[in-house]
Amino acid sequence: MMKTAGLPLFRLILAFFFLAGAQSARITFTNNCPSTIWPGTLTSDQKPQLSTTGFELASKASRSLDVQAPWKGRFWARTRCSTDASGKFSCATADCASGQVACNGNGAIPPASLVEINIAENGGKDYYDVSLVDGFNLPVSVATQGGTGDCKTSSCPANVNAACPAELQVKGSDGSVLACKSACTAFNQPQYCCTGDFSTPDKCPPTNYSKIFEDQCPQAYSYAYDDQNSTFTCSGGPNYVITFCP
Ligand SMILES: *[C@@H]1O[C@H](CO)[C@@H](O)[C@H](O)[C@H]1NC(C)=O
Ligand SMILES: *[C@@H]1O[C@H](CO)[C@@H](O)[C@H](O)[C@H]1NC(C)=O
Repeated sequence: MMKTAGLPLFRLILAFFFLAGAQSARITFTNNCPSTIWPGTLTSDQKPQLSTTGFELASKASRSLDVQAPWKGRFWARTRCSTDASGKFSCATADCASGQVACNGNGAIPPASLVEINIAENGGKDYYDVSLVDGFNLPVSVATQGGTGDCKTSSCPANVNAACPAELQVKGSDGSVLACKSACTAFNQPQYCCTGDFSTPDKCPPTNYSKIFEDQCPQAYSYAYDDQNSTFTCSGGPNYVITFCP
């Protein structure tokens, strides 16, 4: 009795692992910017990191990466990177402080334009967005391929650096604006960071600074509680295309 009852259960477990293991999403990165960039990847929730946590991507080049579902994490791109005489790699924007091209589980140091993707298991509902909560360094979009439901492209195509007020600017040695800090990063005050007395959505309205980001890129998160048209969903296991300088 035990043996005949055990076999179907064993098969069910095998089938479960087969199906769960078979489901993955392909993420393609395209660099449409005029210069080389260095994308970074960060897996949330203490999971093992992806097969690459950072790589070089020449102008007009693309590279794909397969991600096992379920998965949650973020992507960004570093700009103006170089390796110094001692072999230490660093970037003028969105550096991950690993000293290498691979970020090895480190996130981007703000300011950085972020693509956040939350991939559901078994073809459930994915969530994705472009976030400027940690500031902006370059324009970016995230589009789905396949999938069912809304599946709209989320894009921040504007050069927010050109609209960045002086107190938020990160400048290069040549004086050009390389990135734009969030007010939270620049001033570290509760009303901009939605912390302390401002830690709930009703107590943390948009500010004159978050409105600058909102005006430039209405589809992107401009501050912690910005939910206006900034969350995008797609079901059925879509693939993703992330384009820098769309
Ligand atoms: C935003 O508001 C603060 C505080 O009222 C003010 O000091 C600052 O100049 C304003 N900045 C912009 C860009 O409007
Ligand atoms: C959100 O999107 C709707 C429909 O596309 C549009 O009518 C509305 O103005 C948008 N709201 C904001 C705050 O951008």
